[in-house]
Amino acid sequence: NTGAFTYDPGFTSTASCESKITYIDGDEGTLLYRGYPIEQLAEHGDFLETCYLLLYGELPTPVQKQDFDTRVTRHTMLHEQMARFFSGFRRDAHPMAIMVGVVGALAAFYHDSTDISDPHQRMVASLRMVAKMPTIAAMAYKYSIGQPFVYPNNELGYAANFLNMCFSVPAEKYEVNPVLARAMDRIFILHADHEQNASTSTVRLAGSSGANPFACIAAGIACLWGPAHGGANEAALNMLHEIGNLDSVDKYVAKAKDKNDPFRLMGFGHRVYKNYDPRARIMQTTCHEVLNELGIKDDPALDVAIELEKIALSDEYFVEKKLYPNIDFYSGITLRALGFPAEMFTVLFALARTVGWIAQWKEMVEDPSQRIGRPRQLYTGATQRDYVDINKR
Ligand code: SDX
Repeated sequence: NTGAFTYDPGFTSTASCESKITYIDGDEGTLLYRGYPIEQLAEHGDFLETCYLLLYGELPTPVQKQDFDTRVTRHTMLHEQMARFFSGFRRDAHPMAIMVGVVGALAAFYHDSTDISDPHQRMVASLRMVAKMPTIAAMAYKYSIGQPFVYPNNELGYAANFLNMCFSVPAEKYEVNPVLARAMDRIFILHADHEQNASTSTVRLAGSSGANPFACIAAGIACLWGPAHGGANEAALNMLHEIGNLDSVDKYVAKAKDKNDPFRLMGFGHRVYKNYDPRARIMQTTCHEVLNELGIKDDPALDVAIELEKIALSDEYFVEKKLYPNIDFYSGITLRALGFPAEMFTVLFALARTVGWIAQWKEMVEDPSQRIGRPRQLYTGATQRDYVDINKR
């Protein structure tokens, strides 16, 4: 149970890899970052502590934590020229489209952190990505609502700084609610890494060719966008709103079970978890905390989600197929309550997952045995045949 997978030198040699970063036991519903349970990290630490742990492999001492926080904080601002990229996008562009474009463009600016053979440059690239993602994400949001960009305020903590960049406006005083900032920080911890999921595998494959680290992260963002992956949080909230009320839940559960109906319960099921996603439990608790703090007594989407979970977990279809709520099931309700529109949900997922992508990328490029990824195929096409002249076809 070390979380290591043996290389298969044969047909699927790039379909599995060895890593020391994150361990998942899908049957038990266990998630460990460098051996520490997600429940303990979410309860006792903050997101930058989790970033340090994922990047360096150990929990930081107080001095190491202070130094790391300071170094990340020093990289939160974006090159002023980058702000002009945003004006090239339509105002109604999906913010994930903006994120792919702007993060990829970092490769055109920060030439002093792209020599991946230099350990110092690798770490600078890592710090830059962790530090700048909240700034870029907040700018994407501000651009979409036509409000002025808000610069980072390094007096604030990581999550509070992000909320301030998203929700403060020059015209009036804005105070970040510490309960909501703590909830945001915990949500980042839950999304930080998740072993070899589709987007992390994308970053590893792109990075295995020696590509620019910022460009590799942009590839990960593109993959995460899909509704089967990181886009499920936006799709799950849209689904809960479509169901609308408790009376319609049974109808949608029946649709999800109907093999002829493409409808699936968004936020349910997982490639690995065949038990409750441990992150979903913490997300549900966080959801209640945020709604209570905001005085939201009855949220129809939450009522539908709780009823849907209750019915699905007692229905033999879902029990037999081991389909449980995953992290995306409650996150949409929580993020909406925090003030984000559904289009921003996957952006927040990408913001948090950046440290996981970077940690996995670093582990791979620092592995002396690492070679370029080359997924193999099982050829099922035509056997060899001769060309036929067009006049004889
Ligand atoms: C994330 O990999 C990661 O770690 C990802 C992630 C991360 O942190 O990086 O955890 C984040 O992507 C979470 C997943 C978010 N996606 C969704 O919530 C979308 C809805 N879920 C499904 O699309 C689906 O469950 C997947 C894509 C997540 C997994 O699909 P699989 O691999 O087909 O699931 P499975 O093999 O367990 O399915 C078993 C059966 C299948 O039916 P049969 O072919 O056996 O008849 O269950 C069915 C599936 O069709 N099924 C569902 C279902 N999910 C699977 N039926 C109804 N509703 C669902 N949500």
